[in-house]
Amino acid sequence: MFSRFRSLVVVSVFGLALAATAPGAAANEADVTYYQDVLPIIQNNCQNCHRPEGLNLGGVIAPMSFMSYEETRPWARSIKLKVEAHEMPPWYASAPKGVFSNERGLTEDEIGTIARWVDAGAPAGDRSQAPAPKTFAETTSGGWSLGTPDYVFQLDEPYFVEDDVYDLNISFYKTLTAAELPEDLWVRGWEFKTGAGTVAHHMCGYVRAPAPDVEPGAAAEKGVAGAGQLLTCIAEGTEAVMLPDGYGLHLEAGSTLTYNMHFHKEPGEGSGVWTQPEVAFFVEERPVTHKVTNNSIGNTGFELPPRIDDYRIGASRTLEEDIYVLTYWPHGHLRAKAARYTATYPDGRTELLLDVPEYDNGWQETYKLKQPKLLPEGTRIDVSHWYDNSAERGALYDFDPTLTPGHGPRTDDEMSLGFIGYAVELDAADEN
Ligand code: HEC
Repeated sequence: MFSRFRSLVVVSVFGLALAATAPGAAANEADVTYYQDVLPIIQNNCQNCHRPEGLNLGGVIAPMSFMSYEETRPWARSIKLKVEAHEMPPWYASAPKGVFSNERGLTEDEIGTIARWVDAGAPAGDRSQAPAPKTFAETTSGGWSLGTPDYVFQLDEPYFVEDDVYDLNISFYKTLTAAELPEDLWVRGWEFKTGAGTVAHHMCGYVRAPAPDVEPGAAAEKGVAGAGQLLTCIAEGTEAVMLPDGYGLHLEAGSTLTYNMHFHKEPGEGSGVWTQPEVAFFVEERPVTHKVTNNSIGNTGFELPPRIDDYRIGASRTLEEDIYVLTYWPHGHLRAKAARYTATYPDGRTELLLDVPEYDNGWQETYKLKQPKLLPEGTRIDVSHWYDNSAERGALYDFDPTLTPGHGPRTDDEMSLGFIGYAVELDAADEN
């Protein structure tokens, strides 16, 4: 679905206007080569996704690899088009700029270099000028993008997603034994593996502190809120997050993990897959000063009108204490076309926290702030999503525009959730 409407976008030609040459860049087309000029750009901006052993949906993957000249060369024309149109590398937030650690984008100089290289026939050049190959954490960590985890908790039993499954939302539980997690921990990072390849549409992980009177599944069946503290959800495009120094999420011994899975595939003989999801944790060794929570500001009481191409659904919350924001993750389904978070401070000042003018459910970015952002007590956060339930979008995304979806987990339902990862200073957290 990601590629489907990307290809409809008209490519602009302003890359051609770039006559100016960056310092160190080749002076004319004939001098631009893959090894000297283009490979460094591709290493830094493309290979994270464009490589053969890319991660599953908890990481970032692209269908074609750009690890070598031989692999990249056949895509040269398409690469020029995609970078000039600012479609690659993908980045959906139009604002704010410069504040997200995972912001992607090429400079106009880099776009110009790629365009000149393609126009010159995409020459290889001299291999001895190539930079050292880029290395990736998961090649040495058993497939985890954040490095080698301290703890990996795999679901005890594998589960078979049957051949006739089209859309399945199902939760599994695992209560950690004393042998698996002997004592409470502060963790600074967590990452999931679904083990189900492209059949996994998304996965959400929750941790619930020990509650002796409650059956593990009982609370969760009332809805995800009962499953405890949300760790994160992953979908195509989502990246794992490592917290800043001194920030931690409290993982208690005896906690119950929820593996909430959404499987989505074409039913049919042989389409079933075995899956045994995993949750990995990275321990924070430093003293923890900030306690991290994930939460969402969402609207679950809506009904989207049929055949309407611009409909806003919003929710807001006023903060009861100072918080330090770490991440934003807007979440809607097929009809969601834009998302925005704003803050209104106690003095009335407003600030745009995140603007995603072209939201795409097929590419669910986690927006990670470089620096924790203080929002003081009394600040109101507004989250809005815009929806397009028109026949036109329905044809593109394969949904029925005469339906009136409400909040729900299936692909055919909708959601209007604005997830926020944030921390509170530990003293303040203890007092509450
Ligand atoms: C965050 C992950 C990510 C990064 C970074 C990324 N890509 Fe992609 N790219 C994708 C995915 C996923 C696809 C396939 C879906 C699509 O075509 O939209 C893709 C597709 C493409 C295609 C194929 C389009 C076609 O014709 O089908 C080209 C060309 C491309 N990328 C170029 C680049 C270049 C050049 C860079 C770096 C400047 C880059 N990409 C960085 C994820 C990424």
